[in-house]
Amino acid sequence: MAIKFEQVNFSYGAGTTLAQSVLHHVSLEMKTGAITAIIGQTGSGKSTLVQHINGLLKPTSGKVTIDDFELTSKTKEKELVTLRQKVGMVFQFPENQLFANTVIEDVMYAPLNFGSNKEAARSLAEKALTRVGVAESLWMKSPFDLSGGQMRRVAMAGALASDPEVIVMDEPAAGLDPKGQKELLNLVLELKKLGKTVVFISHQMDHVIHVADKVIVMHDGEVSAETTPQELFNRDINWFKEMRLDLPKAGQFSEKLEKAGIKLSRRPLTVDELADLINKEIDHE
Ligand SMILES: Nc1ncnc2c1ncn2[C@@H]1O[C@H](COP(=O)(O)OP(=O)(O)O)[C@@H](O)[C@H]1O
Ligand SMILES: [Mg+2]
Repeated sequence: MAIKFEQVNFSYGAGTTLAQSVLHHVSLEMKTGAITAIIGQTGSGKSTLVQHINGLLKPTSGKVTIDDFELTSKTKEKELVTLRQKVGMVFQFPENQLFANTVIEDVMYAPLNFGSNKEAARSLAEKALTRVGVAESLWMKSPFDLSGGQMRRVAMAGALASDPEVIVMDEPAAGLDPKGQKELLNLVLELKKLGKTVVFISHQMDHVIHVADKVIVMHDGEVSAETTPQELFNRDINWFKEMRLDLPKAGQFSEKLEKAGIKLSRRPLTVDELADLINKEIDHE
């Protein structure tokens, strides 16, 4: 299920005196079954962009195509039901997404909404909660009594429960400890194996290099790069400064080494590559 943006412009409050233009001529493509990461400094339009994928926002002009669904300014609210069924979304602030009295009811909401009976919805919810690592002891608790990381997992289970073809996650690693982050990356890879199309927003370049097939860089509401993580992270360091982006940790470290007078033969993007390159450097001396 391919996702395509064609010349998408978006303004909050379009048509009012307070209109704020946020996305400018956004054209891009995300492949079926691939993992796409979206990066860019705060305020560059990442969250606004991804909310077009499930029709929460509609382009002010231009078109978004999700499989055979065409989303434009003219799309009617009731047509969006089919799109919402295809696209599961985990928002940047999961506490805004949760609403039910208990964790289990929250996660059952989407399957119930899309036509499962109560028993089937419960079984789907239990499966999703287990998959994202929410312990059974929490299922009858209020989602609002959970920690930030747990809330995020519940929101994620809610997005996965109805088995959508596309999963969009807005900064899913925020609020997770290192173990939780590792589990999240494994989940993303597992979703890809199941044939899902995954889109995630991240500030962690190590996550991007680790799992993404494609990376899209947003800058001031425009797409400033659409490429592979490998190509991107080998760009000139000044470009990253301009975009206010970091390199993956290994790349940052090699930049530091270079300043200290130790130049590696190329820029490492993972810690393993960094170790290899340092080894070679030592063997040369
Ligand atoms: N609901 C909204 N109403 C008006 N402006 C908004 C709203 N949400 C975001 N914005 C503005 O749109 C711009 C892009 O925001 P956002 O898409 O949240 O960026 P990012 O996710 O990259 O941080 C920012 O200038 C932000 O202030
Ligand atoms: Mg955001």
